Amino acid sequence: MKAKIEFDGKFYEFPVTKGSEDEYAIDISSLRAQTDGLITLDRGFKNTGSCESAITFLNGEEGVLRYRGYSIEDLAENASFLEVAYLLIFGELPSKSELDKFYEDIKAESNVDEEMKKILDGFPKSAHPMGVVSSLTNALIAFNPSSVNVDSKEDMYKAIIKLLAKFPVLCAWALRKRTGQPLDYGDDSLGYVENVLKMMFKKANQDYKVDPVIASALNKLLILHADHEQNCSTSTVRIVGSSHAGLFASISAGISALWGPLHGGANQAVIEMLEGIKADGGDTKKYMAKAKDKEDPFRLMGFGHRVYKNFDPRARIIKQSADDVLANLGVEDPVLDIAKGLEKEALEDDYFVKRKLYPNVDFYSGIIYRSLGIPTEMFTVMFALGRLPGWIAQWREMRLGKEPIGRPRQVYTGEKLRSYKDIEKR
Ligand code: ACO
Repeated sequence: MKAKIEFDGKFYEFPVTKGSEDEYAIDISSLRAQTDGLITLDRGFKNTGSCESAITFLNGEEGVLRYRGYSIEDLAENASFLEVAYLLIFGELPSKSELDKFYEDIKAESNVDEEMKKILDGFPKSAHPMGVVSSLTNALIAFNPSSVNVDSKEDMYKAIIKLLAKFPVLCAWALRKRTGQPLDYGDDSLGYVENVLKMMFKKANQDYKVDPVIASALNKLLILHADHEQNCSTSTVRIVGSSHAGLFASISAGISALWGPLHGGANQAVIEMLEGIKADGGDTKKYMAKAKDKEDPFRLMGFGHRVYKNFDPRARIIKQSADDVLANLGVEDPVLDIAKGLEKEALEDDYFVKRKLYPNVDFYSGIIYRSLGIPTEMFTVMFALGRLPGWIAQWREMRLGKEPIGRPRQVYTGEKLRSYKDIEKR
């Protein structure tokens, strides 16, 4: 199959690539060479495939999300986060012995060099945990300096295990620093998710018993966030890694990309928005009008998505989970009622319907995090913890696929050549 492009009276032919779910892409890699300089322009990469990938399939029109062929609904209902991590990174669900070995290897690497505590000490208590976690992830390189030989299976495996082991410790430390708790290494006798909870919440002078309702809710949330193909942070991880910067440096960059309120930072922004509406008397109609007013920068946070133009399948699962978790924990949260009210109004409103704006994964996740006792400024860190296996899988695929360095082009719109003017003459 070929695609033809006509430019300046001449025709050029390009091969068309077909994906395993019958998606087509025009391969324009020879466009510049064939046409003597023509490039494509695609702001925000809305129509550009940056790679071929076998990890995650997403159909935004039909609200489908699958990891390695398994539906998100199936995995969220049945799998553990660690199984999903293994699946994303290595391509298959692990056998019992593979999973046991995977977790034993992680536990063996779960200490973080004590010197790292000095770096954490340098941050003010008020520092946003996303900045702290991104910096500490980069700082890990100093303590694990050997560069990863991607031709060595063992080297790749070791780097991946180290990150899966140490990252939750860094996330927990970011929270403990903020809440004035002593730093801790958790408890290897627990499962991965249970240990995350204990590392975050154990008080120095008290035992911590993991609540299975909370552990199960967190397990589900982490699975739902574990990968989402070539989104902003994942593309960042791949592009940084394409320069052969190491795994930790690439992930640290991905964390920074995730931080923004148009991406992972939306979960914090949603709760802040809902709290704001509540404090302002709970008038959802007023905020609906603000969201639609083009003169007003206000957007309904947690609504809309670059690729989902039907519904976000993760949002559907999370909405149900929010109801279940709050009921199970006996928590009543007026903010949940405001969220439901806003959703109902938006789904019936012409502006939102026309633009295909539906609740995304972040609309309800914050409400669950809150009911689990996780502070608002930690929400995006929780997202990063969930997304870690996806970033690792995408980085690994990119390096093993020997992808070239990512380097987009541009259409230059600046000044033509001009001469330097002496400062007195300007
Ligand atoms: N509230 C009000 N209007 C919106 C919203 C919103 N949340 N989202 C999009 N629109 C409007 C835009 O103003 C635009 O209107 P126009 O056609 O009249 O100009 C139209 O819908 C299309 O919006 P774009 O910004 O062009 O869509 P894009 O695909 O570039 O952006 C994005 C997607 C960034 C997610 C956007 O919908 C948004 O800002 N949402 C709120 C932030 C958010 O929830 N982000 C989390 C995304 S999920 C994730 O990253 C994990």
